[in-house]
Amino acid sequence: MSELAPLTAAHAALIAGMHHVCFAEPWSEKAMTELLVLPGVYGWLASAEGRPEGFVMARVAADEAEILTIMVLPPYRRHGVAQRLLQAALDNAKMHGAQKMYLEVASSNENAMQLYTKVGFVLVGRRKRYYADGVDALLLARDV
Ligand SMILES: CC(C)(COP(=O)(O)OP(=O)(O)OC[C@H]1O[C@@H](n2cnc3c(N)ncnc32)[C@H](O)[C@@H]1OP(=O)(O)O)[C@@H](O)C(=O)NCCC(=O)NCCS
Repeated sequence: MSELAPLTAAHAALIAGMHHVCFAEPWSEKAMTELLVLPGVYGWLASAEGRPEGFVMARVAADEAEILTIMVLPPYRRHGVAQRLLQAALDNAKMHGAQKMYLEVASSNENAMQLYTKVGFVLVGRRKRYYADGVDALLLARDV
């Protein structure tokens, strides 16, 4: 089973490279570094035998938390890695006093919607044509 290690700014280049594989509009190393040093931002890197598999980045502020990004590299998908990363993000949010966790997902991202539904997130809002390609953003939430 993969191991989870807390993300630090030292992971910025690695996770920016991973993000590039999974997203059409990837975040740069600089953006990752800037996020990772913000108060309340935390995350985990999942790896097995030293091979990075995926990561989650989240933020907690007062009684609310938010998933900023989550991804698993294609060869390691459908083995429960994202589910473990989400659970770790929820557990940490709870430890820091959050009551609710939010996230945003493109309405076209059926794989991610399946994952979030399985983990107990429900639809709480929609931002019409939010993304550059005209796709709506769905706002999901669950109790922590
Ligand atoms: C979405 C993503 C993070 C899922 O990662 P993963 O490690 O494969 O997910 P898990 O193995 O933990 O899946 C847990 C559950 O989510 C659902 N799920 C995940 N991927 C799915 C898929 N491709 N099709 C259908 N259901 C899926 C299933 O219910 C799955 O449980 P099961 O395998 O027992 O059926 C991964 O596909 C990814 O990185 N996609 C690209 C980046 C992305 O879209 N991130 C989310 C942006 S909001």
